[in-house]
This record gives sequence, structure tokens and C-alpha cells, in this order.
Amino acid sequence: MKIDPWSSTIYQDYSRLRDEFGIEEFSKNLWKDLPKPHKLLRRGVIFGHRGFKLITDSVKKKKPWAILTGLMPSGKMHLGHKMVIDEVIYYQTIGADINIAVADIEAFATRSYTLEETKEFALNEYIPNYIALGLNPKKCRIYFQSKLQEVKDLGYILGKKINWSQMQATYGFNGQTNMAHIFSPLVQTGDILHVQLEKFGGNRPTLVPVGVDQDPHIRLSRDIAQAHRLYNVTVTKDNKIGVFVKVDKDISKLLDNAEKILNDLNFKKLKRITEYKAIYIQDAIDEDIKKIDEKLAKIETKLGGYGFFQPSATFHRFMTGLTGEKMSSSKPESAIFLTDSSKEAIKKIMQSKTGGAVTLEEQKKHGGKPDICVVYELFLYHLIEDDKELKEIFSSCKDGKKTCGQCKKYASELIDKLLKDIKIKREEAKDKIKQYLD
Ligand code: TRP
Ligand code: SF4
Repeated sequence: MKIDPWSSTIYQDYSRLRDEFGIEEFSKNLWKDLPKPHKLLRRGVIFGHRGFKLITDSVKKKKPWAILTGLMPSGKMHLGHKMVIDEVIYYQTIGADINIAVADIEAFATRSYTLEETKEFALNEYIPNYIALGLNPKKCRIYFQSKLQEVKDLGYILGKKINWSQMQATYGFNGQTNMAHIFSPLVQTGDILHVQLEKFGGNRPTLVPVGVDQDPHIRLSRDIAQAHRLYNVTVTKDNKIGVFVKVDKDISKLLDNAEKILNDLNFKKLKRITEYKAIYIQDAIDEDIKKIDEKLAKIETKLGGYGFFQPSATFHRFMTGLTGEKMSSSKPESAIFLTDSSKEAIKKIMQSKTGGAVTLEEQKKHGGKPDICVVYELFLYHLIEDDKELKEIFSSCKDGKKTCGQCKKYASELIDKLLKDIKIKREEAKDKIKQYLD
């Protein structure tokens, strides 16, 4: 199995995705101590992560951390797109430094949009909706890939540590793939890592909230971040902890600097072997590795390196379309767009595929199936805040005490409120948008 970020496949077998790609389960102990955990975190919509512990730790210790995510400005924004931004807004309220890339280069390279068109989509559709949903534009940075020199430079330069075979194996590129497309994952790596440059806030944990289709880019960025490190701290085969210099230049100078750091950290039993480009630390234990690595990363920027933290990521489930297939802009009946009128949205809800039984009789007797019901999914992802109320709907559906008609009516009332609210705020936002752009 291969994940293709540019296809329209939905990857639904979430536990298999975890096993096959080494995505970790987003378990409760990762989020339970965050302030007022968001419903998408609490309810298992975010099902997997890489390196989220760094984020939990930063929040707990009140250390700086960043969010970087990107939007593909193509077409209209629907409820599926709303999830990432809901997450971002939550992280903004708990103190993350928010950065949003408009992926205009990617949209140009991988789809048939001009840079001008993508700009229109971003300015008239996505960003106003983001603000309408609650993003505080004064406390975040939104930029266009094509306009940010540092992102493009970084993409190019970081590409030194990845070769064509690896790109082919990850993305399935072939001789027909155009070069701009081939380069676009590196631009995304530039997006993800540039927030750790001095100018944009320096080295700090960075979380990239995305759908699982983006995992190849996450793996690439994590590998590249690691590959550009000057030092590596690990346990050797014969169970010693060592600091290793990974480059072939300035080895003595790098070892000197590492030694100084180890002294400052109060390690006493150091054995430096310059031919191995190594310092072994006889009085360190496994738990010290992280601490040592962080200190080393910090000085790397002064020694010609980047000292990147590997970026963290969360992966959320995709929404099912109202027709039961994928929610997609190209099938308007499957999606509720944020610009739909209440009337249009309600019509789609009324026609949607629920988990109800064929007849009312049967449903009363055997109950419905909320776990495969798209109306229930609307409640779960978007429309109901209160966990108790949601549980109540779940169990009364299972017990056959609820009818799909009742649910649809309730969902219609809630979507009506939501869309009207967004509409007012979106119009307000549109007027002042330019002042917020980087
Ligand atoms: N590739 C993403 C998409 O298709 C958009 C994107 C660009 C992005 N740069 C990013 C997402 C950086 C996360 C982080 O939607
Ligand atoms: Fe879905 Fe409600 Fe019908 Fe249950 S009763 S299947 S939750 S619409």
C-alpha cells in the first residue's frame, strides 16, 4: 500500500494505516492534560500522530511551539476542510504560534490552476472562512508559497539529503511526472521547517495537523530534518551512549563544542575518539538522550547547521460524504460547502444516507447504526459540542428510540445556525483581509 497525496482515495482502514506506516495511536494520555481538549481530539477523529509528545510537553512546560499547516486553494471549502482549521483555532487558543501556508505552488504544479486563480480562492474563499470560523487573524501568519523566498530556498537546499530513488519510492513519480510536481514535496518541507529558522521564531517543536493523505510529506520532512542535523545522540550496539558528528567538515570543532555542552550538563566520564567522530558518555543513561540532543540542536545553528526539531503531526479521519461516498468538491451533493445556503444544505441532509433500518418498524425493533451514519457524523465532527448530548443520541439510536427523521430535523436546525453565523462573519472578514497577509 502506498499513500498518494494527490489522489482522491480515502484511506479508511485506520488501524492498518497505523501498523503499516508506523503512525502512532493518538491515545488519551497525549491530550488529556491539554487545556479544554477540543472535540476532534476527544472523540477519536484524530486517530494518529507522529511525535505529539513534544507538543504535550511544550504545553505543559509553557515552552514555545508552533503550528504550521497548509491549504490547497482549489475550489470551494466544505465541512471536510473545516476540520483542520478547527484544530488550528483550538491550538491558537492554547498558545501556539500559528503559521498557514497557501499552497499556490503546489496547486499550480499538481492541478490545473494558475497562481492568479489560487490567489482568488485563498483571498475570497479560504481565508475569510477561516476567520469566520474563529481564527484570530491578528495572531497568526498567513503566506503564499510562491511569495516566500525562505520557503523556496529551504526546499531547494534541504533537497540535498534526499535522492530520486527515495522520491520515487515514496510518491510513485515516474518519467512523465512534471518537474514542478516532483519538486512540490520539497516546497512543503520548506513550509514545514522554515518556521524553525531564526527569523520565524527559531528551533521549536512544530505541529502539522493534516489528513492522513499528507503522511508521505510528514515522513519526508521528518527524515530531512533529521538528515540535516550535525550531531546524533544514540545508544550504540554495545550499549554505550554516544554523541556522533554526522558531517565530515570541522570535526574537531564540532567535538569541542559537544564536549563543552556535556561538561556543562555535568557528565564526568567522557571518552572522545576523534577517528570515530564520537564522544562516549559513560555516566549517561537512556533518559538523558533527549536532554543532550536538545542542547546540541541549539548550538547547531551557530555551527553551520539547522538544529531542527523533527516536526510532529496529527492525522484526522476523513468525513464521509452525505451520499455515503467520499465528501468531495467535485460532487456537490456529497458535501456541505461553507457558502451553501441553509436551504441547499438542509436539502442535502434530508437526502443523505443514514444508518437507519429499511422500515421504521424494523428500526424500532433492532435500532439504527450510528457508527455508519453520516448524520451522526455531522453531529460528532461539527454540530454538537456536548459529549453527553452526543452519547445520548448514540444510545437512543442504538435502542431504536430515535428516528432518522428526528435526527435530520435536528441536524438541519443546527446547520442552519452554523451557516448563517459563518456567513455574517465571512462578509465582515472579507473587507479587511489584505491587512492580515504576510
Ligand atoms: N499538500 C497540502 C494539501 O494538499 C497543502 C500543504 C502545503 C500543506 N504545504 C503544507 C499541508 C504544509 C500541511 C503543511 O492540502
Ligand atoms: Fe443516524 Fe439518527 Fe438514523 Fe441513528 S436515528 S441512524 S443517528 S439518523
